[in-house]
Amino acid sequence: MIIAETISEVRKQVKEWKQQGLTVGLVPTMGFLHEGHASLVDRAVSMCDRVVASDFVNPTQFGPNEDLATYPRDFEHDCKLLEEHGCSMVFHPAVSEMYAPDAATYVEILNDMPKQLCGKTRPIHFRGVCTVVSKLFNIVTPDRAFFGQKDAQQLSIIRKMVRDMSYDIEVVGCPIVREPDGLAKSSRNTYLSPEERQAALILSGAVALGRQMAEDGEKDAGAIVEAMKEKIGTEPMAVIDYVEAVNLDTLEPVSRMEGSVLVAMAVYIGKTRLIDNFIAESGEAGQAGA
Ligand code: PAJ
Repeated sequence: MIIAETISEVRKQVKEWKQQGLTVGLVPTMGFLHEGHASLVDRAVSMCDRVVASDFVNPTQFGPNEDLATYPRDFEHDCKLLEEHGCSMVFHPAVSEMYAPDAATYVEILNDMPKQLCGKTRPIHFRGVCTVVSKLFNIVTPDRAFFGQKDAQQLSIIRKMVRDMSYDIEVVGCPIVREPDGLAKSSRNTYLSPEERQAALILSGAVALGRQMAEDGEKDAGAIVEAMKEKIGTEPMAVIDYVEAVNLDTLEPVSRMEGSVLVAMAVYIGKTRLIDNFIAESGEAGQAGA
């Protein structure tokens, strides 16, 4: 596996692959990789001739009081995992390679999508995500890019950005990978103490409850959200940031479980903010899939 630290190294290699007629997949990550990330690489390897993973803790998507400085890192372990899963190249740039000191250009969606859900408490987050993903698209010029449904709002926003900016890139969404007990895998799970790790199961428990209600035919989105909030309320260590039902494509709040509905949550377990979600599909509104 090639380890590239500069934009020009990546460009040179990708150019060579394209000249050989090979397709290229991109898996953007912030490192500290786990099986959730690995599932994206597996999917990319199955759909593309060469796979590039980026491993970059992107400063522009962290707010001033967020965990940029303490975000976990283990590049050696990341390389091992990526190589084992058939990744062809990892792009591991320094911050100065991605952002010149006078960088002043951002990619930002100006409708309400980045303001919903996580955007209410993370106002600059999705501007940072769109900017770095856009830069990675320009550097790697992949045929396909792979994102997890774990970050469902991010996935909907990237799809929107790709449409609006006419990127010639297929966005492939991949299902949430969970621990055997249900907790969604996340680099941030490492922040949890053993007691908090146990308490964190309330997120996947609430997802299971909400999904079951939707499958049983509950059409009142508010009833599902309330039941999930009530369940989370039974865990003394959990503090709800939000639980909401929104349209999967627009992220606008919905009151009925019709079409593709994203039911998403962010919950603090101690100081750690965790997210989880499920998508309920119902034929009633006759919407096409995302
Ligand atoms: P990061 O949190 O490292 O996640 C990288 C990718 O892995 C994202 O697409 C995320 O949805 C996916 N992922 C994480 N945990 C997952 C799980 N349990 N199951 C399935 N997929 C999972 O998301 C980011 O980094 C950044 O915002 C990034 C897109 C790289 C831009 O900086």
